Amino acid sequence: MITIKSHREIELMRASGAIVAQVLGMIGREIREGMNTLELDRMAESYIRDNGGVPSFLNYAPKGDSSVKPYPATLCVSINEEVVHGVPDARKIIRNGDIVSVDCGVFKGGYHGDSARTYLIGEVDPKVQELVRVTRECLERGIAQARAGNRLHDISAAVEEHARCHGFSVIENMVGHGIGAELHEEPPVPNYGRKNTGVKLREGMALAIEPMIAMGRSRNAVSKNGAWVAVTEDGMPSAHFEHTIVVKKDEADIMTLP
Ligand code: MF3
Ligand code: CO
Repeated sequence: MITIKSHREIELMRASGAIVAQVLGMIGREIREGMNTLELDRMAESYIRDNGGVPSFLNYAPKGDSSVKPYPATLCVSINEEVVHGVPDARKIIRNGDIVSVDCGVFKGGYHGDSARTYLIGEVDPKVQELVRVTRECLERGIAQARAGNRLHDISAAVEEHARCHGFSVIENMVGHGIGAELHEEPPVPNYGRKNTGVKLREGMALAIEPMIAMGRSRNAVSKNGAWVAVTEDGMPSAHFEHTIVVKKDEADIMTLP
């Protein structure tokens, strides 16, 4: 079932989303070569708790999969070939030339906000810079399709089309999602699909749209048994951007802005 959010619920989601946006802004100012990814996590968790929120991902356990341990951190920090769900670690050092996806979720007032950005560290290979720019544009184009009356896969098709037209590949086995009182609600929001298919979008639907786009040919992000982190099949870099939005009559309302 896809829930429709009331005006009151949307304002609560906006408050959670604003904390997420502030965390990602702070990380953008602080992230640099030589740092370890656990430092970023500590910074994010303190900021969230100081602002009356709880990290959405901490202790998150996927329903019906007991092979994976509850998620142990506030952020997902995924470097280069890591697509998503990189677990912060004091031994994991950020290096010059890396691209680093930071994904953050905040629960406050009964509702979640979820957003991700990919940061460039120092001198990044121009082709990899293009990957990051195109992935950001994929998110923008997806959001531009999120309006009442359109269909869900109009979002997906817009993301896929932009990625492919630049020769990049879409990670198909990880998807965006509905969001609200639960971090993951219906419907799944794939980053590929056919225009004019999928459920009709209605005002008040809240979606986390999150393109994961890779150089090379990978169509899937793969994890070792029991590990959270998911990497490209061919070891090529992957980028990730995400916003939580609410469908409106015209332009989508973005919850995860500062
Ligand atoms: N934004 C990601 C998602 O929506 C992050 C989830 S991390 C998890 O799936 F630990 F909560 F799974
Ligand atoms: Co998400």
